[in-house]
Amino acid sequence: MTTPPVCNYEGSDYQTSFWDQGGRAYEDQAEAIALKRMLPKSGNLMLELGAGAGRNTPRYAGFERVVLLDYSTTQLQQAQERLGRSDRYIYAAADIYRLPFLDGLFDAATMIRALHHMADAPKALAQVRNVLQPNAVFILEFANKLNLKAIFRYLLGRQKWSPFALEPVEFVELNFDFHPKAIRNWLEELGFSIEKTLTVSHFRLGLLKKVIPAKILAALDGVFQPTGRLFQLTPSVFVKSKVKGDALSLSKGQRSGSMVIPEKPAAFFKCPECGGTELIDMGDHLKCSHCNSRWAVRDGIYDFREQLK
Ligand SMILES: C[S@@+](CC[C@H](N)C(=O)[O-])C[C@H]1O[C@@H](n2cnc3c(N)ncnc32)[C@H](O)[C@@H]1O
Repeated sequence: MTTPPVCNYEGSDYQTSFWDQGGRAYEDQAEAIALKRMLPKSGNLMLELGAGAGRNTPRYAGFERVVLLDYSTTQLQQAQERLGRSDRYIYAAADIYRLPFLDGLFDAATMIRALHHMADAPKALAQVRNVLQPNAVFILEFANKLNLKAIFRYLLGRQKWSPFALEPVEFVELNFDFHPKAIRNWLEELGFSIEKTLTVSHFRLGLLKKVIPAKILAALDGVFQPTGRLFQLTPSVFVKSKVKGDALSLSKGQRSGSMVIPEKPAAFFKCPECGGTELIDMGDHLKCSHCNSRWAVRDGIYDFREQLK
C-alpha cells in the first residue's frame, strides 16, 4: 500500500527550539485553555496522534490510559523522559496513514499540530475515524489558511494563493494550512458531528507577546476563543467532534456497542501490513499470526513503521 510522504522529525530538537526556548508560552497556554474546554472529564483510552515530545499529554489526566503515537522514535523517547514508563502511557511509532490499532478501539483522540503535515488530510482523518468507537470524541487542531494575516497579504497582492479557496496550501514542503470549511466537510463526510469550534492564538503578534505577559495574553485569548462558533480568522483552530452513534454511520465491520478495551497493550494492535488482528507478544517483538510479519518492541516503544527483516 502506498502512503503519502511523512514529515520526518527523527533527531529534531522541535520541543526545545520551538516550545521551551522559542518564546511560545502564550500559544502553549492558549492551547491548554482550549483543550480544557473540549476534553471530556474522564475516559478510558485516549489516542494522541502526532504526540511529539508529549507536550500536551499531561493535560489528558482524566483518561485512564493514553497511547502516544508519533512517526519519530526520538520524539517518543523525549515523551518517555517527560512522562516516564508506566502502564498509563503506551508509546507507538507508526504512520498516521497506516494506524496499527483495532477498529473502534479508542473512546477519544486528539491531533494537535499534526494535520499540518498531512499531504492527504482526508486519508489521515479516515484512519482516525476507523479506530474510534461510536460516540468517541475527536479533538482536532488545524492551521487555518483563512487567517487575518493571510487575508491582508492576499488583498494587498503580497501573497499569490487565495485564503478563500477550499484546497489546502503547502507553504513549505509538507507544511499545510487548511480552510475551516474543508475541514468541516471532511469530518462530516466521515461520520463525525461537530460539537464545538474554538479559535486559538488571536494575539500571535511579536510586539504584543513582548509587552504582555503570556499568562494574561492567554487568558484574553480564552475570552475570544468561543467566537470560533461564528467565524474563524485565527492561525489556529480547534474543532471538537463526535463519532455519530447511529448504525448507518459506523464503519465497515464495526458493531454499534462500545468495545471492551483489552488489559494488555499488545492486544490493542492490528498488523499494519495485512490488517490481521492477532499479534502474538514475543517479548522483543510482536508477530502477526496471519502474515507472519514481525514488529519490534524496543525500550518500551512499539515500532510499526517497518517490519523486522
Ligand atoms: C509539529 S509536531 C507537534 C507535536 C505535538 N502534537 C505538539 O503539539 O507539541 C508534529 C508531530 O507530528 C509527527 N508526524 C508528522 N507526520 C506524521 C505521520 N505521518 N505519522 C505519525 N506522526 C507524524 C511528527 O513526528 C511530530 O512529532
